[in-house]
Amino acid sequence: MWYYAIRPALFALEPERAHQLALNALRLAGHRRPRVRSTGTIECMGLRFRNRVGLAAGFDKNAAAVDGLGSLGFGFIEVGTVTPRPQPGQPRPRLFRLPAAEALINRLGFPNDGAEKVAARLRQRKYRGIVGVNIGKNASTPLHHAIDDYVTCFRILRRVADYIVVNVSSPNTPGLRSLQAREQLEPLLTALLQERSVPTPGQTRPLPLLLKISPDLSDPELQDISTLLKALPLDGVIATNTTLSREGLGAAASEHTGGLSGRPLHALSLRTVRKLREQLGPGFPIIGVGGIDSPKAALEMRAAGADLIQIYTGLIYRGPALVSQCIRAVG
Ligand SMILES: Cc1cc2nc3c(=O)[nH]c(=O)nc-3n(C[C@H](O)[C@H](O)[C@H](O)COP(=O)(O)O)c2cc1C
Repeated sequence: MWYYAIRPALFALEPERAHQLALNALRLAGHRRPRVRSTGTIECMGLRFRNRVGLAAGFDKNAAAVDGLGSLGFGFIEVGTVTPRPQPGQPRPRLFRLPAAEALINRLGFPNDGAEKVAARLRQRKYRGIVGVNIGKNASTPLHHAIDDYVTCFRILRRVADYIVVNVSSPNTPGLRSLQAREQLEPLLTALLQERSVPTPGQTRPLPLLLKISPDLSDPELQDISTLLKALPLDGVIATNTTLSREGLGAAASEHTGGLSGRPLHALSLRTVRKLREQLGPGFPIIGVGGIDSPKAALEMRAAGADLIQIYTGLIYRGPALVSQCIRAVG
């Protein structure tokens, strides 16, 4: 496999530089007509997916390489997290590899070009698969004004997205995860549902609105969220974001603060998806993400109750062949 031949050279580079290089290569590859591998149509959230395997948020935050990424076969691509205004994110270094554990730690803090620029790029895309946009708040916006940031993003991006994800689960924007508490989450989601109900030219159906949650929630917190998701109702949930836990990892993992992704996250994400499925019942759309790095892991996520899956860190360690391997496993 060619990826294993070039991986040592990529891993010799500083992780964020290697990522930028890969994105540039994918952007150039995007001049070819993007293919979406089809295994028959999967209906979910009123959308038609050509397969169940998607790219998780954070890989292409600015929608710079959607067409190239599409050529890898993904059934859907989630861009972002996008904030209303451009921002640089946290100081570097802020992305670290833990090769022995096949994991990453990141504390990027949503570096992105801002909602207007991302919307303009998405308007130009040729990729015909589903594109979701993951939205968040600027670091400089006080928490008590967070709703304004999410609503602004929604307004700017609604016409270029097939679905919108409310990200309240990244550990790298101070206070963000506190928005998962019911008292904060309910007004936030209600405001977005209200905004969604404003008619938009060309839109015949309500734009699916999803929530992305952390794997570090307590059982009562998770139950509260499930109750709210059903009551509102929302169109789906993405589980999970990265974890603050370093359980079972050596000292190297404790050296860096930030969110952990990849293989050590898998069990935690599976557990969260299993509980969500129990609490939400059979029909509620769940996208499972966390440590999927093989067809076996993809099948485990399906068995836990996920309708669709997403990958990120697995791509870094296993390369783009992982996409078609997972599609063969889960359709
Ligand atoms: C470097 C990096 C940046 C990420 N940025 C975002 C982000 O901006 N928004 C978000 O919702 N999730 C972000 N994530 C989380 C992923 O979307 C995913 O939920 C998580 O990494 C678990 O999947 P994985 O184990 O397959 O990587 C990021 C993950 C990584 C590794």
